[in-house]
Amino acid sequence: MRIFFQLQKEKIDYRFAKNVIVTGGAGYIGSHACKALRNAGYRPITVDNLSTGWADAVKFGPLERVDLLDRDKLDQIFKKYQPYAVMHFAAFSQVGESVDNPAKYWRNNVVGSLNLFEVCEEHGAWILFFLRPVQLMAITTM
Ligand SMILES: NC(=O)c1ccc[n+]([C@@H]2O[C@H](COP(=O)([O-])OP(=O)(O)OC[C@H]3O[C@@H](n4cnc5c(N)ncnc54)[C@H](O)[C@@H]3O)[C@@H](O)[C@H]2O)c1
Repeated sequence: MRIFFQLQKEKIDYRFAKNVIVTGGAGYIGSHACKALRNAGYRPITVDNLSTGWADAVKFGPLERVDLLDRDKLDQIFKKYQPYAVMHFAAFSQVGESVDNPAKYWRNNVVGSLNLFEVCEEHGAWILFFLRPVQLMAITTM
């Protein structure tokens, strides 16, 4: 069975694979998502500002060092790769810090996500959203 799956993988021609943008692809969850996408025959494009992620963790497709707060740059990336879909993992995720410094989380996680949604809509890409609700909880206390 294992050999069968290995053979199936070898048949994939990645030159023709659909691009999937993975925001936060240099982070813990996003880097595993990139591996899974690659194994499923997609080409993961990591979009990450490396604020908490690692370039060395990006092994299954290109890395674009972009901050989601930079909407113009985000737009350029979408034009360049014309992604089929987007998986969104880029966020600050420390619960304690989000309570101590909610504005930092509001700006990064909410404004960054909003930029991404708008660019996805403009370029007609599907989006899957993986932020934990707890990351947005601090916002309600502002
Ligand atoms: N780690 C877990 O167990 C877990 C469980 C459930 C959900 N999640 C959620 O998954 C997401 C990722 O978590 P993680 O543990 O991989 O965190 P992580 O810190 O390892 O990864 C987040 C990545 O996002 C990048 N990033 C942050 N802000 C950015 C911005 N403005 N622009 C571009 N890149 C930016 C960071 O550089 C980093 O590489 C979070 O939303 C988290 O809440 C994580």
